Amino acid sequence: MEIYWYLTAPDGHQPWTASGSRQVNYAYFQQVARAVDHLGFTGALLATGAHDPWILGAALIPYTERMKFLIAIQPGLISPTLLAKMAVTFNQFSKGRVLLNVVSGDKNTLGAYGMHLDHDARYDLSDEFLQVLRPLLNEENVSFKGEHLDIENARLALSNGGYPPPPLWFGGSSEAAQEVAAKHIDTYLSWGETPPQAAEKIARVKARADKYHRQLRYGIRLYVIVRETDELA
Ligand SMILES: Cc1cc2nc3c(=O)[nH]c(=O)nc-3n(C[C@H](O)[C@H](O)[C@H](O)COP(=O)(O)O)c2cc1C
Repeated sequence: MEIYWYLTAPDGHQPWTASGSRQVNYAYFQQVARAVDHLGFTGALLATGAHDPWILGAALIPYTERMKFLIAIQPGLISPTLLAKMAVTFNQFSKGRVLLNVVSGDKNTLGAYGMHLDHDARYDLSDEFLQVLRPLLNEENVSFKGEHLDIENARLALSNGGYPPPPLWFGGSSEAAQEVAAKHIDTYLSWGETPPQAAEKIARVKARADKYHRQLRYGIRLYVIVRETDELA
């Protein structure tokens, strides 16, 4: 089993400060990243949030030696070729420590960035995006024409520097999400759900992946609520 921490605001109560919560700034992220690195967690998830996850991750490479950066990417907001270039650059500079968490996001958040596809169309776009991204990460040439993407003669000038290409992880629960994961993804992440609910969801994704003769790994994203007793928690 691999255990990842979380490198995203908001975090922590500080009732003695005016805002009532911890100031999540660069110095704090450095502390958390060093702790993750030192304590032996496999890595951390850098979700979309207040801070840009690529800039956050890149800024923390020099403070860490072994932790992996699981960086959230939203297919509707960036060209797959540009994204592949960023990922491979990060992979070289971090010595093989980048993983990508493909999230298709929600309409309200994405609308603010000028992306207005509805739910299932977002997953159609993610499906096309992954057909371009994966071969590029594998240092292959790609030309692709779909409903959403039209890519001509893409190839990265850079290699992964001898490290394995960044693995693709994924978060999303709907039928459309599960289908995209089954076709393209290495590791499927679920929200924190009860063990029976998680088992049922994993069985459904697995059945879909079987259709494509693919085997996925599975993960679950949990919040830890720490109090003196179970009742208080
Ligand atoms: C483990 C996990 C991590 C996620 N991280 C992000 C994220 O960083 N940014 C984001 O916009 N959505 C994130 N999502 C949300 C998904 O993009 C999606 O909006 C949500 O799962 C609902 O999708 P669905 O309608 O297919 O169930 C995450 C989901 C999961 C399960």
